[in-house]
This record gives sequence, structure tokens and C-alpha cells, in this order.
Amino acid sequence: MVKKNKVAIIGAGQVGATTAFTLAIKGLVSELVLIDIDKEKAEGEALDINHGMPFLNPAKIYAGTYADTKDAEVVIITAGLPRRPGQSRRDLIHSNNRIITDIVQQLNKYADDPVIIVATNPVDLMALSAQKTSKQPKNKVFGSGTLLDTARFRFALAQNCKIEARSIHADIIGEHGEGELPVWSLANISGIPIAVYCDVCDRICEPEKREELFVEVRDAGMEVIRKKGATYYAIALTLARITEAILRDEHSVLTVSLYLDGYLGINDVSMGLPAVIGSGGIQRVINLPLSLDEQKSFIATAEVLKELAKDMEEFKHQ
Ligand code: APR
Repeated sequence: MVKKNKVAIIGAGQVGATTAFTLAIKGLVSELVLIDIDKEKAEGEALDINHGMPFLNPAKIYAGTYADTKDAEVVIITAGLPRRPGQSRRDLIHSNNRIITDIVQQLNKYADDPVIIVATNPVDLMALSAQKTSKQPKNKVFGSGTLLDTARFRFALAQNCKIEARSIHADIIGEHGEGELPVWSLANISGIPIAVYCDVCDRICEPEKREELFVEVRDAGMEVIRKKGATYYAIALTLARITEAILRDEHSVLTVSLYLDGYLGINDVSMGLPAVIGSGGIQRVINLPLSLDEQKSFIATAEVLKELAKDMEEFKHQ
């Protein structure tokens, strides 16, 4: 059977449409369907990309329905409501949980065997909601998690160290947002542990520099939102990167929000950890050997997320 490289994107808003455009210009898909409750919006986005088709690798790009997800290899969920001014985080969790649950129930009905990537925020809780609702095994349902934060971290280190970002290997794990954690103990520059590299580097950084860089990374999303109202380019590239790893069966190590099943004694919560990603989704989770302090922070974040998840589940059944 010829591989179709078919992707469905649910939610053709800023993130969904930019992801569609990114997949199209990277030539990664031969078929791409956009699904949104606002059908006209999905149609408009598909049309806009289609008008550039003479300059793209050929692909069938269209607005569709859940029936069109049947043979999709990857489904990306970016549908959701933005946080309204004054709205609590809890309210946002409950409204987006309803949306994710409805969407995944539709996918259960129509999609044969997709890998589902959730981008809707708060992404770790929305990934958990999808993992619990989906008929797919947990390795096929995960969130974009801290991969965007990891990219921002590598960019910030690249700027600071004057080294290109691809030579920097440093992860942010945990929660995408408040509870994210930079893994300094394993960060390296082309295999050289960062502490060793700093000793031989001719740049002199203050001891506070690490914390400063991390805070800049943690708050980077809010900074973009303050300046331009929304973030979508970098998250679209993040989603396209994960999709590429799946479609090409790359076995790439990417930090995604995955269902934890015993790592550091943590269960039943979805959080950012590196995993080997390829055909069929997560092929292997990499249980990082964190320092003791890092373990404590990771466990503390898991506890916060568990409380929020419990509240989310109880509210759903009210
Ligand atoms: N089914 C399908 N589409 C839906 C549904 C639903 N039940 N509910 C909302 N949508 C669609 C909206 O019609 C809209 O087109 O989801 C889209 C959301 O788009 P935007 O409001 O532009 O939001 P965006 O900036 O794209 O962010 C989407 O991704 O990164 C995250 O935090 C971000 O949670 C947010 C999500």
C-alpha cells in the first residue's frame, strides 16, 4: 500500500492554520484536512494555502469533517478556547476539557488508527484528557508538552553562548508552563557537559545567569502574547517537527507530554519527558537520570497536576 502521509488538524485557528501552512511548505504531507466548528474558517485557510500550490510540493489540502480522519496517520488537535481576561485557569481547564473530550470521541468513531498530538492548553491536562478518552493506546496519544519550551531554551542558550541552537542539547521537562524544569544536570554542548564547557569558555557568565535564562524561557510565551497577542509560529514548527518524526519513522528524541507509568513513582498524569518518536508515535520513553533536586521538582509538579486532573475529572461528571 502506498503511504499517504495524511494529517488531520482539528481547529483551524491561528495555531492550526499556521501548522497546516508549515506542513505544506515543508512538503511533509500528501493529504491534509482541516476541521473546525467554524467550517468557513477552515475552508478559507485551506483555500489560502491552496492558492500557493504551484510553489509547493503537490498535496490535497481541504476543509472536511471527522469522516475524513478515517485514514489519517496523524491528527493534531489545536481546537480550544483562549483564556478570556479575568477567566480562571480552572474555568479554562473545564471548558477546553469538554472540547477535547468531544473531539476525541469523534475520533474514536471515525479515525482508524491515528497518532493524536494535542496542542490545546493547558496542554499536559488536555493530553491526559485525550489519553483517557481515546481508544488508542497511550503511546499514540500525547501532547506537544515542553518541546516548545525546549526549543526556546536551546535558542536562549545559543544566544548567550554564541553557538548555534542545533549544537546545544538541553531539555525542559515537566509541565508546559509554571511547573517546567530545565535539566541543567544533563545539558551539554555537542556532548560536552555544560559545566565543563563553561570552564573552558572565554565568556564569563555570572552565577545567576542560569536562573535568568530559565526565567526568560519560562515566561517567553507570555512575552510574545504581550507583544503580538498570540503565539503560533514556534508552536506550529514544534507540531510539524513531531509530525515529521512520525511520518518519516525517524526515531527522534523529542520532549513531549506523555502518560507517566511509574517514572519516579509517578502514575496517571501526563508530563513532558523525552521519548523516541517515530511511526506509531512514542516508541520508547527515556527515563532521565535526574539529579536529586530535579527529581524533587518533577515530583512536586506531578502532584500539582494530579490535583488539577482530579478536579477536571470530577467536574466532568457533575
Ligand atoms: N471543534 C473544532 N474546532 C473548535 C472547537 C471544537 N469543539 N472549539 C473551538 N474550535 C476552533 C475555533 O473555531 C478556532 O478556529 O478552535 C480554533 C482555535 O483557534 P484560535 O482561537 O485562533 O486559538 P489558537 O491561537 O489557534 O490556539 C489554539 O492552541 O497553543 C494552543 O493555547 C493555545 O489552547 C490554544 C490552542
